[in-house]
Amino acid sequence: MKKNILNYLEQGKYISGEFLAKKMGISRVGIWKQIQKLKMLNYDIISQQNSGYCLVSKPDLLLVDEIQDQLETDFIGHKIFYYHEVESTNNTAKKKAQSAQEVIPEGTLVIAEKQLGGKGRIGRRWFSPQGGIWLSIILYPHLSPAYIPRITLVTAVALARAIRRLTKIQPLIKWPNDILIQEKKICGILTEMSAELDTINWLVIGVGINVNILHDEFPDEIKDISISLQEILNEKISRIELVKIFLKQFEVYYQLLCKNKSELILEEWKKYSYTLGRHIKVKSGDRIISGKAVDISRNGALIIKKDNGESEEIISGTVLNKSKEIDRYEE
Ligand code: BTN
Repeated sequence: MKKNILNYLEQGKYISGEFLAKKMGISRVGIWKQIQKLKMLNYDIISQQNSGYCLVSKPDLLLVDEIQDQLETDFIGHKIFYYHEVESTNNTAKKKAQSAQEVIPEGTLVIAEKQLGGKGRIGRRWFSPQGGIWLSIILYPHLSPAYIPRITLVTAVALARAIRRLTKIQPLIKWPNDILIQEKKICGILTEMSAELDTINWLVIGVGINVNILHDEFPDEIKDISISLQEILNEKISRIELVKIFLKQFEVYYQLLCKNKSELILEEWKKYSYTLGRHIKVKSGDRIISGKAVDISRNGALIIKKDNGESEEIISGTVLNKSKEIDRYEE
């Protein structure tokens, strides 16, 4: 990744202007100008005539330079579009992917501090205030559209692993792609694409993570089913670190998929599965199928042993939540 001045500034330590100028290959006036720009972005930087510059604190923002600083990926996140607010990062990413004016490389990220019209699955709204992670990744996989459910599994595995790595909490994946902690939703995934019969033109994977959100902030209708990392850990989490770990994990598992190594993805998915082994009801199209979730197939379908003893593979659907009232399920 391209080096920037933030790679050399250290929190709580003075770094001389001369050193920075040498490292960056620009004049000391050039360094001063860059420091002024950082201050405008709410970096708290103090300077002393004989000692240089000292970074006191960074803004709690998902800034491009922060995400790309020591990002360990080969291509995911090497181009980032950052917004303070957008309607939906998926919508912005889709426009970029379709744009004839701009070349958008694979792995480009669209990320925003907040979304005004965040979209959830099945036409729902997605609550997206400042404090969460709302991002979309643009991909051009050389895969048939039949691989889409597996790409969703890849995303879920990457999210679960990233959360676990950063927080030591083990999230669970509710088929196909809800990430739960304490049986409440911490992340959601929305995959959108343009495809022909056997090729994907582009794919946008939208990811929402409830990070630094207080429980009271959730709207009443989702208060009982939503949770945030800040709420669980009782402290704020570094969103930048979480984004970086997630992007790396995503790239690792996405590359496995592109190399046709689905078994490793499924193995990992099963480790985090909330659904397998449970008696569930799944809404798939107009049907409600009830039975025990026994396995996940190679192509990401859920295998259910139905109450009548027959097995069925469900490619897409929603596992219904059992409400507190006995025998009532809801989406
Ligand atoms: C779900 O219903 O579980 C899916 C939620 C997906 C939300 C994310 S936030 C970033 C991206 N942009 C959107 O508008 N939605 C997805």
